Amino acid sequence: MQIINNVNELREFIKVWRVSGETIAFVPTMGNLHAGHLQLVTQAKAVADRVVVSIFVNPTQFGVGEDFESYPRTEKEDQEKLVSADVDVLFLPSVDDIYTSDARTTVTVTDVSDWYCGAYRPGHFAGVATVVCKLFNIVQPNIALFGLKDFQQLTIIRIMVRDLNIPVEIMGVDTVREANGLAMSSRNTYLTESEKQVASELYRVLCVIRDAILSGVSSYAELEEQALLSLQQVGFKPDYLSVCRSSDLKKAALEDKDLVLLVAVRLGKTRLIDNIYFSK
Ligand code: PAJ
Repeated sequence: MQIINNVNELREFIKVWRVSGETIAFVPTMGNLHAGHLQLVTQAKAVADRVVVSIFVNPTQFGVGEDFESYPRTEKEDQEKLVSADVDVLFLPSVDDIYTSDARTTVTVTDVSDWYCGAYRPGHFAGVATVVCKLFNIVQPNIALFGLKDFQQLTIIRIMVRDLNIPVEIMGVDTVREANGLAMSSRNTYLTESEKQVASELYRVLCVIRDAILSGVSSYAELEEQALLSLQQVGFKPDYLSVCRSSDLKKAALEDKDLVLLVAVRLGKTRLIDNIYFSK
């Protein structure tokens, strides 16, 4: 595996593949790699000739008082995992490689960036859209893979690619979970052992709501209220829980068929998100 820090060097390296007609899959990450990230890499290998992974803890998507400084950085272990996964290139830029100090341009996907997580993390999705757009321009992949775990992020990236005519195919990959149902996340390392037990209830509550919808419940608002109460009862502080249309993340009406249940909670000092995506 080639490790490249510099944008121009990466471009030169990748150009050779492109000229010889090889396809490129790209997996952007912030590192502290777990089985969820590695699932994206496995899928990437299945759909393209070459795989580029980036690790960049992107400062512009962290708000004031959030965990940018303390975000887990495990470079050595990450590199070993990517070598074992047979990745071609690890792109490992510094903040200065990505952002010039006098940058004037950002990418904002309006409306949907302000909902759900966006309402609790102002500016977060503009930071994500901007860095992903920049990474797409640097790597110029044929296909880029993102986890369904971050459903709102995936939706925003799909809209950005459509609206800006970025020539890349976006592929969503199913959420990888712990045996107890907890969605894998780099932030799970902040949980204590007892919090990990409680955290597994998040997915269970989502499953209960999904099953209630599939068995024909007649009010989504009531269902959301009950679910928020059950989350509070087990010890979460919920930010939101919403039954949404998966196509545009607007609140679902009873006649909508393709749904996603979006949830974010706080547990101790950790913020957890999860979702279930299903059709009626
Ligand atoms: P990060 O949280 O490191 O996640 C990188 C990718 O892994 C994202 O597409 C995310 O949805 C996916 N992922 C995380 N946990 C997963 C799981 N349990 N199962 C499947 N996929 C999972 O998301 C980001 O980084 C950043 O916002 C980024 C897109 C890199 C922009 O900075």
